[in-house]
Amino acid sequence: PKQHTLAVIKPDAMNQHGETILEEIRGSGFSVTQLKEMVLSREMAEEFYKEHREKPFFSQLVEFMCRGPCMMLVLTKENAVEEWRATMGPSDPDQAKTISPNSLRARFASDILQNSVHGSSNQQHAEEKIRFIFGDICAEVTGDGE
Ligand code: CMP
Repeated sequence: PKQHTLAVIKPDAMNQHGETILEEIRGSGFSVTQLKEMVLSREMAEEFYKEHREKPFFSQLVEFMCRGPCMMLVLTKENAVEEWRATMGPSDPDQAKTISPNSLRARFASDILQNSVHGSSNQQHAEEKIRFIFGDICAEVTGDGE
């Protein structure tokens, strides 16, 4: 069965690598089911990353994510959550370059904060974040249909 995940092209990657990343996404067999460019408000960024509230880097993260436009995407594919995480590679680009040199973060991330892309970590987060960014779009996107 097909699965959905939320992907974000982050502000650091939008200018230089946005188009390339979109091409890579499509070339890797994901369907882009929803797509919207937006500048996150501070409040939205804080809510989006609420799971990281207690982390020492939280305020830096929120500031970075509000710095410019992000591309928000719903990606659809079999096993989309895990597949997208594999396509991104590890959070830390140094680690990504060693473990997964073809991954997006190995190629496009500047550092562990400005790491070019985001993806939901599990199916529950995927559904929650898709609803948060895109609202209650049709049931076939957020539900477990198909
Ligand atoms: P992301 O996968 O979007 O999830 C949380 C984000 O926090 C992560 O990508 C990075 O942008 C950022 N992040 C994770 N770890 C660190 C860290 N040690 N220092 C600064 N930022 C981090």
